[in-house]
Amino acid sequence: MTLEVIDQTPLIGSEIKTDLDTLLSGAEAQTIRAILDRRGVIFFRGLAISDEQQVTIARTLGDIVDSEGDGGIYKISLDQGVNERAKYLQGSLFWHVDGSLQPRPNLGALLRALRLADSGGDTEFCNTYAAYDALPEDEKRAIEPLRVIHSAERSQYYVTPEMSFEEIEFWQGYPTKSCPLVWTHASGRKSLLLGSTCDYVEGLSVEESRALLARLRDWATQPRFVYRHRWQVGDLLIWSNTGTMHRALPYAADSGRLMHRTILAGEEPLH
Ligand SMILES: [Fe+2]
Repeated sequence: MTLEVIDQTPLIGSEIKTDLDTLLSGAEAQTIRAILDRRGVIFFRGLAISDEQQVTIARTLGDIVDSEGDGGIYKISLDQGVNERAKYLQGSLFWHVDGSLQPRPNLGALLRALRLADSGGDTEFCNTYAAYDALPEDEKRAIEPLRVIHSAERSQYYVTPEMSFEEIEFWQGYPTKSCPLVWTHASGRKSLLLGSTCDYVEGLSVEESRALLARLRDWATQPRFVYRHRWQVGDLLIWSNTGTMHRALPYAADSGRLMHRTILAGEEPLH
């Protein structure tokens, strides 16, 4: 069976219709990666995929990170009884890139819906290549040389606005990282690198820095750059982590919502 690609919006998000054997065999893996790179988010629906098959599919697309979770499967839940880092995962409700503090941010991730919340819990993605491309040329030139300090501490203020001294000290234990505001990829394409770990722009005043980062985030998350995934149980969604930002929309911690995630290891250095 060949792939049938159904675009969900003009700039981001495609459903791919195919069969499970095609996905497990890796026969179309190169094509799927190319679609993922171009569309930012892809998903497969109605294929009854198991945990083991999810990991097999991930391995056809790249190396996986299995340092957390169990055999390449990590449980995403806001329920402390299911995931002991549930409080930290509250940060997923704000626009971010996974692993922006790492030398090589994750290439992407696979997310499979096991249980859904009765209300809330959709996931939104924005295409940061398209957002960069659509900027006026003078703005592209102005922001090209800028660098942003990313910090784990900054991202935690979204979860806990009034952190204690001990909490601040804990999060400051993670080293900060200087990253370009405009990420030039190995392909030569450029994307905006934003998200909740953005602390400040080097060389700008506090006010200018906050204003610029918020303005660019507002720009990148306009409806025309965003795909909102309305989950069905069994959906397997894959996002390009280097060409998008994402966030979950709010849902109750006791809603039962459960996703199984497999991370694709980073391939491109970010420095
Ligand atoms: Fe995330």
